[in-house]
Amino acid sequence: MRAAVIGASSESIYTISKAKELGLFVVALDGNPKAPGLKEADASFVVDIRDPEKVFEILDKEENKPDVVLPVPIGRYLTTTGAVNDRYGLVGVTEEAAGICTDKYEFHRILNENGLRDAELYLLPAGSDVPDASELNDMYPVVVKPRFGSGSRGVEIFNSRAELEEKFLKGQPYDEDYCIESCIPGPEYGVDGVFVDGKFKLILLRGKKNTPPPYRECVGYYSVLRTEENKEFYDRVVDLMQKIGDCVGFKDNLIHADIIKDNNNRPFIIETSARPSGHNLHNLFTPMASGVDEVVEFIKYALPGLNKTYSFDAKTKGNMVIRYFDFEDVRVNKVPDEKELMKKYPLKAWQCNLQPGMFLGKVTNGASIMGRGFYVLEAATHFELDGYCDAIKSEFELEETK
Ligand SMILES: Nc1ncnc2c1ncn2[C@@H]1O[C@H](COP(=O)(O)OP(=O)(O)O)[C@@H](O)[C@H]1O
Ligand SMILES: [Mg+2]
Repeated sequence: MRAAVIGASSESIYTISKAKELGLFVVALDGNPKAPGLKEADASFVVDIRDPEKVFEILDKEENKPDVVLPVPIGRYLTTTGAVNDRYGLVGVTEEAAGICTDKYEFHRILNENGLRDAELYLLPAGSDVPDASELNDMYPVVVKPRFGSGSRGVEIFNSRAELEEKFLKGQPYDEDYCIESCIPGPEYGVDGVFVDGKFKLILLRGKKNTPPPYRECVGYYSVLRTEENKEFYDRVVDLMQKIGDCVGFKDNLIHADIIKDNNNRPFIIETSARPSGHNLHNLFTPMASGVDEVVEFIKYALPGLNKTYSFDAKTKGNMVIRYFDFEDVRVNKVPDEKELMKKYPLKAWQCNLQPGMFLGKVTNGASIMGRGFYVLEAATHFELDGYCDAIKSEFELEETK
């Protein structure tokens, strides 16, 4: 059997390797000849994946025709994955559902209409230079983000009309569409889940640790278990994701989502997409914390011909955290020794790409932090995990540069 990969970034490598282990022949496509997933595949093609017709030209050939499109992290052009699924009748996200979840404006419009997303949103079309801030309702703080963004690119929070005017609206016109929406206060969560025959199943709820506003970039995730204390919120997340899936048209696909717990202990959906989560979650943290290797289970589900049983049932594990290196405005003078750390702390994984002499700037988006590496810890409570994270930070020698 054959698997296609649409978008062969480094984040596709894990799924490609798992597909090969399952005996699939992997055909990878990406517009960038240097995309790292291309050399991991059995056959690869450099092609503009933004254009489904060009992708069909390749996949229509008998020797390339896919039985499944592998679930890999990808941004806007998840729509091409949907188009390929539609064309060959494959199990996975449809083009229509992919189009809705990758368009922040459409996603809001449809959910809001169905009572599933209580926020205000203004669309600022590319090239236009209205509105000025006085035309917006008093809805501060607001979040400004590109309509088709991902990885926190260009996302910023503004607290007042004056600030929005000064730091954003003055820069108009922009060359892409932007959304200006109400910023919902509360702690943030991540969701890994799956739709099986239209039914939503939660694989892992993650508590997100963010840098302070205005950037609120994610610097870590805790596993959140369904305990007595939070089962109400947990169950509301499941219920909301089911309704969103019904509304958007998710039937047979993995999803990840960003959610805020609002002041009434209710989940507010920021966004969801029909693909596995990046940031070393789908390939590392989510399997560790939930016991479910979601991409492997999805491939088995999508291909009954493999004759392998699948299960998305999470096996509750202890409390874990995946932490990224969020040091800001420092020069790294010393990096601790991995072996020593492993002896001292309950580390389950350690990958540090920092080296002495490196200068680390501000963390403003995914790109500015994710390349630095990560580590995973397990402990009895989130409080204990935080203590270990502080201790690990103090094992580095960092010199402030500002
Ligand atoms: N309406 C909102 N209320 C509160 N926080 C938000 C809102 N929209 C975005 N954010 C914050 O900004 C981050 C990035 O926004 P998101 O819409 O997920 O864009 P991206 O596709 O780039 O990840 C979110 O993870 C969250 O921290
Ligand atoms: Mg997001």
